[in-house]
Amino acid sequence: MAILVTGGAGYIGSHTCIELLNSGFEIVVVDNFSNSKPKALETIKELTGKSFGFYEADICDKAALQRIFAENNITEVIHFAGYKAVAESVQFPLKYYHNNVYGTSVLLEVMSEYKCKKLVFSSSATVYGIPESVPVTEDFPLSAINPYGRTKLIIEEMCTDLYGSEDDWNITLLRYFNPVGAHESGKLGEDPNGIPNNLMPIILKVATRKIPELSVYGNDYPTPDGTCIRDYIHVVDLAKGHIAALKHMKSGVHTYNLGTGKGYSVLEIIETFKRVNNIDVPYRIADRRAGDAAECWSVPVKAEQELGWKAKLGIEKMCEDAWTFAQSKS
Ligand code: NAD
Ligand code: WQD
Repeated sequence: MAILVTGGAGYIGSHTCIELLNSGFEIVVVDNFSNSKPKALETIKELTGKSFGFYEADICDKAALQRIFAENNITEVIHFAGYKAVAESVQFPLKYYHNNVYGTSVLLEVMSEYKCKKLVFSSSATVYGIPESVPVTEDFPLSAINPYGRTKLIIEEMCTDLYGSEDDWNITLLRYFNPVGAHESGKLGEDPNGIPNNLMPIILKVATRKIPELSVYGNDYPTPDGTCIRDYIHVVDLAKGHIAALKHMKSGVHTYNLGTGKGYSVLEIIETFKRVNNIDVPYRIADRRAGDAAECWSVPVKAEQELGWKAKLGIEKMCEDAWTFAQSKS
């Protein structure tokens, strides 16, 4: 019996593999390294002292997925594989629909074929669009403000339709807020191929002097310091949320916010990063970025009540671990 982890070499997937192996689960990973490196898999083995099955394959390749299911007794799937860069999704929407939507439909077909009907899916707070108020609960209205977000919304709806036609599915949709931080060993963290778009990876590039300064996208929002507020969550807490979700799988389609329930502004993140790591992060105030909500932070109470999961690590630890990882790489 094994859990298939799609995208297990990526940022959140690799941290989840560690938690799965440390919790005694057997896993099989599939990844095509489109946004990760094989070294992540070696690091997972090194940090856990455990080995696992791996297939270098694309989830859009049905025959490859069928082979994985034929060769392993897969009982559940945690599905991370997908593209996640918002700006790129605006430029190349079809690339996103193909990889995220089509890739997931192929995966679901193969799961159905092999009678494996337990899925934990990486959704995102992006499905709330620009929320009308904060904090955000799971029953807020859903909308898409970019093609990436629309792929997540379509996949959520695809799962609901699937359950409507085959009621033996157990599907858990985890809506992550803003994952940051790294494994505290400093050996595993966010290591994307190409130029990063998200705040913390850019802060790390500035702190390691690979980028001269950070552009803070707007300081005229209706927030206490004028910069946008987000719910940053340590990737290890997020990874543990998947173990809780797996242990509480039940019939139907169930959605959970995975956040901390606390919001921090861009300037608070920069100042905390500087203080805990004793390093300068030069920045300038730039224009607003299109599509940014002033505030987006969660009520994670449903996950606590139903999954028994709660984020434990604070913003200082997120900044500290992210920096330890960045230094080990540079
Ligand atoms: P990531 O890019 O680090 O990891 C994704 C992994 O999937 C990579 O290893 C990549 O090589 C692999 N992959 C992509 N397409 C594939 C395909 N067709 N076949 C096989 N492997 C493929 O991203 P992440 O930050 O770890 O995100 C994981 C999931 O969580 C994604 O679905 C993402 O949309 C979602 N998510 C991420 C965030 C975030 O801010 N990081 C927030 C909310 C949701
Ligand atoms: C955070 C804050 C920016 C970069 C995105 C996706 C979302 C989810 C998480 C996947 C914002 C500000 C950023 C910079 C800045 N991903 N910022 N200067 O936009 O909240 O969410 O990642 O599902 O779908 O949209 O995260 O890290 O890009 O931005 O001032 O150079 O940092 O304006 O307020 P975001 P982010």
